[in-house]
Amino acid sequence: MELLDGKKVAASVKETIKQEVDELVKNGKRAPHLAVILVGNNGASETYVASKQRSCAETGITSTLVKLEADVSEEALLNEIRQINDNPEIDGLLVQLPLPKHINEQQVIESIHPLKDVDGFHPVSAGNLMQGYPTFIPATPFGVVMMLQHYNITTAGKRAVVVGRSNIVGRPMSVLLSSNTDYGNATVTICHSRTKDLEKICAEADILVAALGKPGFVKAHMVKEGAVVIDVGITRVEDAGSKRGFRIKGDVDFAAVAPKTSYITPVPGGVGLMTIAGLLKNTLAAYKLNSGYTS
Ligand SMILES: NC(=O)c1ccc[n+]([C@@H]2O[C@H](COP(=O)([O-])OP(=O)(O)OC[C@H]3O[C@@H](n4cnc5c(N)ncnc54)[C@H](OP(=O)(O)O)[C@@H]3O)[C@@H](O)[C@H]2O)c1
Repeated sequence: MELLDGKKVAASVKETIKQEVDELVKNGKRAPHLAVILVGNNGASETYVASKQRSCAETGITSTLVKLEADVSEEALLNEIRQINDNPEIDGLLVQLPLPKHINEQQVIESIHPLKDVDGFHPVSAGNLMQGYPTFIPATPFGVVMMLQHYNITTAGKRAVVVGRSNIVGRPMSVLLSSNTDYGNATVTICHSRTKDLEKICAEADILVAALGKPGFVKAHMVKEGAVVIDVGITRVEDAGSKRGFRIKGDVDFAAVAPKTSYITPVPGGVGLMTIAGLLKNTLAAYKLNSGYTS
């Protein structure tokens, strides 16, 4: 069993981005610029946003954080988005999810300009991905395919199973793995809460991606000997013994499953870090699109 080390792979992706950004700035160009809108005080969201900003700083990407109160009106939020859409100095925009209940998340996603949609959640981005056109790939599945490529894990002809069908993770993950690309050409089954015989289907996978948000859901008997297991899950579970009062758990029962696998991602230290690498890559791509830059 080999650990798929998100820390190491993300660091190497970030280093490549940093070199490219340094080169741009050295040549008198402005740095790429990411804007993040954070609504309210969700602890997990604040942690993710802080981590995204830190990673921008490490790579030389400018970042701007717009913090709005939890009771901000939908119209005020849409107005912020419009201003950023119209700002030629900002290349990428993401609105950290989840949003407070009174705000229509889909409406917000659709109001981001598709050329600044670095989260890849806009229907235009999703449609392009579906049809195999260049686009912003949602950062988490993008991070997963970068990880598979880094470790030279063959996907072509393999049986892949993705558990979870969200627009953010499961569905785009299944599209990427089944696409006619270097990181695709797998035969993909997508599972969800209504899937029958889920355990049996998982146990047939050469590549198993767990993205359902149920800590420790994937047990050893659901995993084929030698499978590649990608754990996307991030759930905060209470832990009175820890300083923060919680710890992060993935969707895979790591201790029991790891010995059966050829490769497995740890949580933390796996897909989460790759997600940020995906976001940074998308931001650099948005910069190139918006500034007409060609390398
Ligand atoms: N590592 C990262 O950077 C990163 C990024 C994003 C998300 N995440 C984590 O990934 C997990 C999934 O996120 P998400 O946004 O995709 O979640 P989501 O929108 O809640 O979707 C969960 C999916 O899992 C399916 N599901 C739930 N319970 C199931 C069960 N018992 N059996 C089979 N399928 C089941 C649901 O099926 P139905 O459609 O039938 O309801 C749904 O499709 C969460 O833990 C989240 O925190 C991590």
